[in-house]
Amino acid sequence: MTYRKPIVGIVGAGQLARMTVQASIPLDIGIVLLAASPDDGAAQVTPDVLVGPPDDPAALRALAARSDVITFDHELVDPDLLASLERDGVVVWPSAATMALAQDKRRQRSELGAAGFPVPLFAPVERVEDALAFGARAGWPWILKASRGGYDGRGVWVIESPDEARATCAAALAAGTVLLAEQRLPLDLELAVLVARRPAGEMVTYPPVETVQQDGMCRELRVPAAIGDDLAAEATAMARDIAERIGLVGIMAIELFVSGGEIYLNELAPRPHNSGHWTIEGALTSQFEQHLRAILDWPLGATVPTGDAVVTINLVGEGEERDPRARIPEAVAVPGARLHLYGKAARNGRKIGHVTVVDETLAGAERVARAAESLLFGRVVAGKDGV
Ligand SMILES: Nc1ncnc2c1ncn2[C@@H]1O[C@H](COP(=O)(O)OP(=O)(O)O)[C@@H](O)[C@H]1O
Ligand SMILES: [Mg+2]
Repeated sequence: MTYRKPIVGIVGAGQLARMTVQASIPLDIGIVLLAASPDDGAAQVTPDVLVGPPDDPAALRALAARSDVITFDHELVDPDLLASLERDGVVVWPSAATMALAQDKRRQRSELGAAGFPVPLFAPVERVEDALAFGARAGWPWILKASRGGYDGRGVWVIESPDEARATCAAALAAGTVLLAEQRLPLDLELAVLVARRPAGEMVTYPPVETVQQDGMCRELRVPAAIGDDLAAEATAMARDIAERIGLVGIMAIELFVSGGEIYLNELAPRPHNSGHWTIEGALTSQFEQHLRAILDWPLGATVPTGDAVVTINLVGEGEERDPRARIPEAVAVPGARLHLYGKAARNGRKIGHVTVVDETLAGAERVARAAESLLFGRVVAGKDGV
């Protein structure tokens, strides 16, 4: 009998799909993409690409016809459509039900809060009056969020005053945005825990990673996170509980807040996630390979770090005239700096790549990663400035 390799269909073709394709190669897993555009980061490096919108029934069915299992690069999919594929026998991991929860921050707060997981004080906002009442109860400032579609802090607003609440909520409600209000927690730091689960329940977790955020966007990852063993154990147990409760299949990042020494749940992302990019060089099995193993129902891989300290710095665009790709040779000259570029134009405020360094100390890893980043953006010149 001739070997037929498994084919994974990915909805979406951004950097997560691109790095999943990279992980598929050594295991000879076939990938078919449903890309919104042939220029998307993963479509540039994959031979098998269907082009179409992620919520187009015909495009999804065409992808399903080519695939043994369907998975996702993003959450912008129609769960009802996925459920209809499931009813027709298509293997969809994570499931339609998991995807529906993942794209709805309001449901995450209410369902996981009701299940006993610690969440910040929150309330749905249907009218401007709800926002004013929430401010009176939770204190000012508080946080307003779009329930779906946000990323990198787009869809998250700090509301300082009743006037701001009126203006921001009225505009968002008029645009049809589903909103929730949240208490603004004073943050000690933010964490993410990656958990992967197979259909029958086998699970692995990675050590908690510290996610350093700036203006709602993750800028840096640090492993080990600056937390004690008790908090790390609590965060890990929470991730496992949630994965089991929602019947996760695949990898999932759970974003957590640490405030006053206590853990609070932020949001779920049931897919490879920015907070897991450190695992490519920093763990024995990358999050991308782990996701493929889990959705194919293969044995999961070891999650131990490959060194004492891992730092990943996100490369965030500063305008196309300063494209870091023009200085890749300078940056790869930095010993130990591992570069990842996503094939994206360097538009302002957009994540276009990352640099990971594994070292004996966090300070050492940070120094090397910053040196590579500075070279890429032309802030320093190779051979000068001690680089
Ligand atoms: N309730 C909150 N209290 C304090 N900071 C918050 C709160 N909610 C969000 N933030 C900050 O905004 C960031 C982005 O919020 P998040 O809901 O994770 O949106 P996104 O979908 O853009 O990742 C968080 O990582 C955190 O830094
Ligand atoms: Mg987030």
